[in-house]
Amino acid sequence: MQQPHQRFPVQSSRLHLWCFIISTVLLLSIPGGIRGDEPIPNKTDPQVSHSLPMDKASGEVMLIDGIVYPIPPPWAGNKIEPSGNVVEKLRKIPRELTHDRTEIYLHEKAVAPLKAMTSAAAEEGVALEVHSGYRSARYQRTIIKQLMARGRTFDDIIRYVAPPGYSEHMLGTVVDFYPSNWTFVDTEAYQWLRLHAGEYGFIETYHQNNRTGHPWEPWHWKYEPPPGVPVLFSDAPMKTGRTESEPPGSSFSAQPSTPNKTSIDYEENDR
Ligand code: DAL
Ligand code: ZN
Repeated sequence: MQQPHQRFPVQSSRLHLWCFIISTVLLLSIPGGIRGDEPIPNKTDPQVSHSLPMDKASGEVMLIDGIVYPIPPPWAGNKIEPSGNVVEKLRKIPRELTHDRTEIYLHEKAVAPLKAMTSAAAEEGVALEVHSGYRSARYQRTIIKQLMARGRTFDDIIRYVAPPGYSEHMLGTVVDFYPSNWTFVDTEAYQWLRLHAGEYGFIETYHQNNRTGHPWEPWHWKYEPPPGVPVLFSDAPMKTGRTESEPPGSSFSAQPSTPNKTSIDYEENDR
């Protein structure tokens, strides 16, 4: 009478064992199988960086040296779409307005307001030195590649450097003032800009309490006059003859917004 009761568990165990073997074989035979998030390497496909969990990825990506990097927040979904041909509108700003006496380009509509603003600051003894202006998407990529070549991780860089296509610098209406790092916050220049930049149509895009999730960039100011503010037009355009979009003086610093030794070293990039 006891035999059936004794045999049943044995048969059940065998059944479970066979089920396990069969399901394992089936799962391993499916591409991706139980390794679902690790696609089988394919020499013709770019590698995918899994720096961002794929379930949080937006689907927007950038490619660097054959590796696909998902675009993380706050950039994802916020691609910059300049209206019109910005390159045609670029004008070289006077070298004396730049930190290194280099060639920096801005959209023609931002040049006169910048000149007016820097003159007004100078009259009060405050030097506003432009460190970066227009940057193309291609140059933005170059910056990221250069920083990676110095050993920085993509995740670290992308906190302070917009991916190509996502930088306001593409608009030609943005300037970074020197020093374009977090020490700028302690300068007279920053205090002056906080008080007066708005009079010239400039705004601190990534201010301390921005709600977009961008790190604070006190050195980064955009010419975006609100409706009603008189627009200062640039004087005679300084023709550059340049059609390509990487002005040689468009220097860049990828800086942390706060002193953070684990992040990008501001001194190394301070140029
Ligand atoms: N550093 C700013 C976010 C840019 O790369 O445009
Ligand atoms: Zn900037």
